[in-house]
Amino acid sequence: MGTYAVTGAASGMGRAAAERLRGDGHTVIGVDLRDVEVIADLSTPAGRSAAAAEVLERAGRLDGAVCAAGLGGIPGRDGMVQQVNYFGVVDLLEAWRPALAAAGNSKVVVFGSNSTTLTPMVPESAVRALLDRNPAKALRVVGRFRGRSAPFAYASSKMAVTRWARRSAVSPQWAGAGIRVNVLAPGIIATPLLEEQIARGEKDAVEQLAVPIGGRGKPKDVGDWVAFMLSPAADFLCGSVIFLDGGSDAYFRTDDW
Ligand code: NAI
Repeated sequence: MGTYAVTGAASGMGRAAAERLRGDGHTVIGVDLRDVEVIADLSTPAGRSAAAAEVLERAGRLDGAVCAAGLGGIPGRDGMVQQVNYFGVVDLLEAWRPALAAAGNSKVVVFGSNSTTLTPMVPESAVRALLDRNPAKALRVVGRFRGRSAPFAYASSKMAVTRWARRSAVSPQWAGAGIRVNVLAPGIIATPLLEEQIARGEKDAVEQLAVPIGGRGKPKDVGDWVAFMLSPAADFLCGSVIFLDGGSDAYFRTDDW
């Protein structure tokens, strides 16, 4: 049995993943703002380094990590969204890399989103600013788009984290050290995050998004996918982005292949 760090383990898909892993007999160290082993605020550098250190203290070596903590794109918190969704993944994984390498055959699941391919006109310079570790610029860029800054902050954070994951996945420091990094890109999943989006004015956007299979995804099913992506069956999976979205990405980008 393995030891896994799971961020966002107090709610939604992170919680479902943690429950599934525990049910399979693994040890889970949850990281979140409440109700988990490691209480930390991933929106600040100090919170991230404290969280990373406490997990390492508890774990020693890590068989895997699941980075599910995230915030939806709601007006008024663009900087927080970029901090949690991008740096809340990258800073922790960089800090945990030696512990993941020590396990020999470890696996990381990063939560992306199908907003990375479905949000039109996301400013590329915001994505690049995050990858360049320039959060002030990333925030400035999305702030120029009045009325669109919240979806742009969200999509830019998920595009940057997806690109970071794919770049890392194939590098000597990660693939070369036996660490598989992959991205799970959910679509509309019924979680508190989605409820918040709907309550805060995104109801139409959520309801009008084409979902060919219909309905909404269930957190438990996502937890099962995470467990699969951490299992030996995923030994040959590296740098992949798995869309779990009822067909929305395929619908809008059918021939984009
Ligand atoms: P959720 O809101 O149910 O869970 C997210 C967790 O992240 C919460 O427990 C929250 O406390 C934690 N979190 C937020 N800010 C934090 C901070 N500053 N420090 C520490 N923890 C923090 O959300 P859900 O839906 O389960 O989302 C999981 C991931 O999936 C997120 O990265 C989200 O962006 C992504 N996603 C969600 C979709 C959906 O439809 N629900 C669609 C596509 C992606």
